[in-house]
Amino acid sequence: MPEPRLERTLAIIKPDAMSRGLAGDILSRIHRAGFSIVAIKSLRLTPFQAEGFYAVHRGKGFFGELTSFMSSGKIIVMVLEAEGAIARWRDTMGVTDPAKASPGSIRRDLGTSIQNNCTHGSDAADTAAFEISYFFASHELL
Ligand code: CDP
Ligand code: MG
Repeated sequence: MPEPRLERTLAIIKPDAMSRGLAGDILSRIHRAGFSIVAIKSLRLTPFQAEGFYAVHRGKGFFGELTSFMSSGKIIVMVLEAEGAIARWRDTMGVTDPAKASPGSIRRDLGTSIQNNCTHGSDAADTAAFEISYFFASHELL
């Protein structure tokens, strides 16, 4: 039997969840879903840094509001590790729009709008690699 492949993904607790005191609840859900937290820090993005992080969405109608929202307060950024971490974290979060997310998911239970949906997660292996390196140096990921 091949060894199960551990994978890493980038997770963010967004400013809406931080200001509403939901970080502890979200961290509990991360532990219950079987992730280990490889690295974690709290910071506030500048608008320029938020634009760089979300560069793939540049030109979309929601880009300006999204980047000002993401730079509006402190966030927690984390590298999560598990088998199939990228898909597992997206399942744990639920889909982008809280109203359409599955019952029991973070976004359904805690999100308040398509923008204010409490958490971010990488969507593929290449975006996970970019997003992890956006926030963490290799010596923080050992
Ligand atoms: O975060 P996710 O990958 O599920 O969605 P996305 O399509 O990559 O969009 C990134 C973020 O932009 C979302 O999580 C929302 O916060 C925001 N967004 C928005 O404000 N309005 C939309 N119509 C779509 C996304
Ligand atoms: Mg996305």
